[in-house]
Amino acid sequence: MVSWSNPHPPVVVDALLDDVDRARVAAVRDDALAAQVATGRALLRVVASDALDCSPEDVLIDRTCTTCGEAHGKPRIVGDAVHISASHSKDRVVAAVSLRGPLGIDVEHISSVAFAEFDDAALTAGERAAVAALPPRERPPARARLWTRKEAALKASGVGLRTDPRIAEIDAALQVVDLDLDADYAAALAIESIDSTETPRITITDASDYLIRRAEQAASSRTATA
Ligand SMILES: CC(C)(COP(=O)(O)OP(=O)(O)OC[C@H]1O[C@@H](n2cnc3c(N)ncnc32)[C@H](O)[C@@H]1OP(=O)(O)O)[C@@H](O)C(=O)NCCC(=O)NCCS
Repeated sequence: MVSWSNPHPPVVVDALLDDVDRARVAAVRDDALAAQVATGRALLRVVASDALDCSPEDVLIDRTCTTCGEAHGKPRIVGDAVHISASHSKDRVVAAVSLRGPLGIDVEHISSVAFAEFDDAALTAGERAAVAALPPRERPPARARLWTRKEAALKASGVGLRTDPRIAEIDAALQVVDLDLDADYAAALAIESIDSTETPRITITDASDYLIRRAEQAASSRTATA
């Protein structure tokens, strides 16, 4: 349900991308970020193809923004047969897929939110108070956990950061689960709750090598059909 990968250079995963992905990756000036974006998009296509039991090139992902119509919105599988979400931060790229309903995933390197102004810019008054009540060394991971939970929830609804995170509370219809990826990262998955007493079963898979194999397979099947 949740797969993660280290970022791979765009050329390594190129066969798993479509033209919209390639245009997005080409527009990113920073090489490290381009690798994250390419890997996130390739991973999303692979996890969706596995869930749908089809080949990656048959997975059609629509990214139409509901605000402006450009292709930078919440990714969805055309037909909504499965629900998907992706996120990336430094050396972690994550993708989630579910048959159950809309979901959002977020990962953040703890150092990315470890600066003094973050709390005032991103947290609600209650969240700020909870962080401030902790001993100083516990604040960065706690802040990252609060942030990834909130961003995962905002991504599940597709609103993202169009809403002001300083006043955004997590929708009670969502279940939010912390994901244990790596000590230096916080990560969370938010998923529509069917039964609030039931904890969603989440499997976390290291897909770094698998993604490379799938990219090689996709490249050779493309060559064979050319
Ligand atoms: C979605 C959003 C919260 C991601 O923030 P981030 O921390 O920079 O990035 P993450 O790595 O966690 O997630 C990125 C992924 O989120 C997904 N995403 C993009 N927009 C999304 C949305 N509205 N809802 C859910 N997921 C979204 C994409 O898969 C994206 O992957 P990409 O980098 O390959 O494009 C932020 O970009 C956002 O709020 N965007 C919407 C803003 C908007 O709609 N503005 C109106 C423009 S007209």
